[in-house]
Amino acid sequence: MNTPTEVPTPTEVPTPTVGSPDLADPRFWRLPAPARAEAFAELRRRPAPVYFGDRATGRGFHALVRHADVVEASRTPAVFRSGPGVTTPEPPRWVRLLFGDSMVNLDDPRHAQLRRIVSRAFTPRLLGRIEEDVRRIATALVDEVERGRPEDFVGPVAAELPFQVICSMMGIPEESRRTILGLVNRTSAGTGVARTRRGRLRVPGRGLAALARMQGIVAEIGRERRRRPAEDLISALVTADVDGRRLTGRELGAFFSLLLVAGVETTRNALAHGLHLLTVHPEQRALLLADLDGRLDGAVDEIVRHATPIVQFRRTVAVDHELGGPGGPLLRAGEKVALYYGSANRDETVFPDPEAFDITRTPNPHLGYGGGGPHYCLGAHLARQEMTVLFRELFTRLPGARSLGEPVLVPSSFDHRVRALRFTF
Ligand code: HEM
Repeated sequence: MNTPTEVPTPTEVPTPTVGSPDLADPRFWRLPAPARAEAFAELRRRPAPVYFGDRATGRGFHALVRHADVVEASRTPAVFRSGPGVTTPEPPRWVRLLFGDSMVNLDDPRHAQLRRIVSRAFTPRLLGRIEEDVRRIATALVDEVERGRPEDFVGPVAAELPFQVICSMMGIPEESRRTILGLVNRTSAGTGVARTRRGRLRVPGRGLAALARMQGIVAEIGRERRRRPAEDLISALVTADVDGRRLTGRELGAFFSLLLVAGVETTRNALAHGLHLLTVHPEQRALLLADLDGRLDGAVDEIVRHATPIVQFRRTVAVDHELGGPGGPLLRAGEKVALYYGSANRDETVFPDPEAFDITRTPNPHLGYGGGGPHYCLGAHLARQEMTVLFRELFTRLPGARSLGEPVLVPSSFDHRVRALRFTF
């Protein structure tokens, strides 16, 4: 037993053994889902997180794969810093200088300041007002589905809803929306694919010319609203509050891009996975349709747990830290850790039978929106609202709506992206 003067020795962190899966290798992310799930299950059984890459040169990361470890890293921001970046690879310095740092990559005090300003968009009062817009947009989309019978669920429905919702929240004029959508698609078509020695992998942060044009359009709208404020979010963000705080044109552009990436891609992937999960689990679908009002909230949470739209974000360790308390695995200052939300959401010590898709799962403390702490998803409530409203509209009016075949997925270590999903009703 330890006496108070005894300090437990930290546990050594293992490196992967030859032949075991390598999360840093793009080929790992092309493996079939069951093989990846098995690899993560094996990593969760190890006594300490595994370091992938070359620890001596610092080129690599500790893989945090357990629920408790992801929660600890998310809620201890003094140790686990978001700067200089949470995506891998991190955006080059000149990109950050040009486009302004996005709040996901910042630490306090700048993060707290920015978050206070942009939280104006997410007050219950504003979200209540947006709910009307979400309903109107969802109804129009289901009208369009009935009329046009599109083959693909992703472009015309799953991506369109969150895009329209964000544009209407921000107050982007109708005539600019198509241009912006074209630019977003160009940004994220290029986003994503990193050429590495061993292949290509989707990563965030490319498509810069399109991104620059999009931010230019938004900054222009910002200048216009500063002169003539309207009842929208851009106006709220560019006009000073009582303490004189407001966003600069560059910060506004960076925030809008973040909303599009964080709010559109994630929600679209969740909606597409959701429709597919409810198709391949007919008993869960029957359960849901038997009591939409009673079970939709649980279904939406279970979809986000099971599909986990964001695979991982990264943190940088600020000071030497023993994970889980004294005697735990030693993470050294300057090292990187990757928070694998999908693995945390399959942690069998928290979720009984984690592979099962169960819309009645209670409790469901999944980490799909992050592990808590200062960066917890700002749009979690809005995302739930969008999914609930769309599925309610879809299944009430078209109860036969279902996917056809398998979704077309894009291999990625960053998000669980669906490129296309055929569907019918
Ligand atoms: C199913 C949909 C969504 C998922 C799965 C999701 C997931 C996440 C995750 C994992 C994080 C990082 C949390 C952390 O680092 O602790 C995050 C952050 C964020 N999300 Fe979401 N998100 C979704 C929808 C949205 C929507 C609709 C919006 C806004 C319209 C949004 C805005 C943001 C913002 C602004 C941040 C950064 C917060 C900060 O750094 O302080 N998200 N989201």
